[in-house]
Amino acid sequence: MPKQIHLNLFEMNCVSHITHGMWRHPDNTRERFNDIEFWTGLAELLEDAAFDAMFIADVIGAYDTFRGGPDTSISEGMQIPSNDPLMVIPAMAAATRNLGFAATFSTTYEPPFAFARRMSTLDHLTRGRVGWNIVTSYLPNAARNFGHDDEVEHDHRYEIADEYLEVLYKLWEGSWDDDAVLADKERGIYADPAKVRYINHAGRYYKVAGPHLCEPSRQRTPLLYQAGVSTAGRSFAGKHAEAIFMGGSSFSQVRSFVADTRRIAGEHGRDPADIKFLPGANIIVGRTDEEVARKVDETRRLRSIDGYLAHLSSPVDWTRYDRAASVDEVAASQGKTSANFRKWVPPGQTVGELLDQLGGLGRPFSVFGTPKVVVDEMERWVSEADVDGFNVVQYLTPGTAVDFAELVIPELRRRGMFREGYADGETLRERMLGAGPRLADRHPGARFRAPAVAAAP
Ligand SMILES: Cc1cc2nc3c(=O)[nH]c(=O)nc-3n(C[C@H](O)[C@H](O)[C@H](O)COP(=O)(O)O)c2cc1C
Repeated sequence: MPKQIHLNLFEMNCVSHITHGMWRHPDNTRERFNDIEFWTGLAELLEDAAFDAMFIADVIGAYDTFRGGPDTSISEGMQIPSNDPLMVIPAMAAATRNLGFAATFSTTYEPPFAFARRMSTLDHLTRGRVGWNIVTSYLPNAARNFGHDDEVEHDHRYEIADEYLEVLYKLWEGSWDDDAVLADKERGIYADPAKVRYINHAGRYYKVAGPHLCEPSRQRTPLLYQAGVSTAGRSFAGKHAEAIFMGGSSFSQVRSFVADTRRIAGEHGRDPADIKFLPGANIIVGRTDEEVARKVDETRRLRSIDGYLAHLSSPVDWTRYDRAASVDEVAASQGKTSANFRKWVPPGQTVGELLDQLGGLGRPFSVFGTPKVVVDEMERWVSEADVDGFNVVQYLTPGTAVDFAELVIPELRRRGMFREGYADGETLRERMLGAGPRLADRHPGARFRAPAVAAAP
């Protein structure tokens, strides 16, 4: 029996999320992202295809490093304007029954109490279909929007995040007992005060009394997604994440990341299979090789180099240099060390090579072909890199999802890799992890269930 894969669609509440320049395509509807129908229509399409979830990225600042300001990002619609990811979920939930919604929220700048309430509210309204992508935020401008002069140091952000999660587990898992709500009209008792408690959290970064303001929702803790790749990020993910959304530059990097993070999960007493790994998938599919070639060509033609450079926060404006120039020499002439951008530029490249490889036809998983070619590659990654599914990057909205639903999903089903439909009414956690609606007992968050919280000072 082949492994059953999970499919998310990669979204963001903005015009140009990750395939920059593509919004100009005549069939792309991205500029309608302010309309509620843009979201409900897309959600219906994903539910018809039985996607697991829509995954909604987010940032809380502008990308303003490239060319020394936000102008390029603004003119490209590159993640600015950008609306709140949580607010579109209730409308989509009302238009669907089973699709999940995983939204990004940062642990660095807003304290946890109000966020705990927002997520519980969403988990109630969606009947357990909500996930949270935990990020620590990387933009200097984000720091300046929340009262800081500069970014909180990288590993320090993960330390804060760890305590943030502890507060949330206490609120979500420990503050209310399952049987606290009586809704007893006869006796006039809505909830039993003996079964609801303060959390009295007093840590290094947060002081939160509780009780949690929401009664227990179906999942309590939303399904936890994360995407850390650094040592601190990986260790955080191995401890907390239930689904990991992955970047990475190659098949072998992804394979070793999966193995290493599963090992870390084991060190935290978890079952390594409790984490689902979903690489971002750049897929262009067509019925014939000619159709594929046409779509790839269109994508190359429309891609915006400026948009990608702004997104990468490139410290150098490479478009100003001769294509034959050496990347290392240009960097040195600008007083930049190669280390600034070494993670995305291999040594010895020319400026032309660097610019050509920008552009969303990208990494780590990318395949352009007929359904057979696409699914062969997906199958290889599942069996050889031990990934559990894919987060599908959009070139066109809704064209990419339509193509995927019409061409790729039937081939996945033919090979027994993807279910025919939903188990109606299941929570996102049940669907993604194949177990119950709540955090696994061996998950570190389960330690904060009552009576542990009840015993807190
Ligand atoms: C595929 C992918 C998607 C990401 N989406 C977001 C996002 O929406 N918002 C955000 O602030 N960070 C996002 N990140 C950044 C991660 O949260 C994380 O900071 C990054 O992977 C670097 O890892 P590190 O923090 O361990 O260094 C994303 C990362 C990856 C790989």
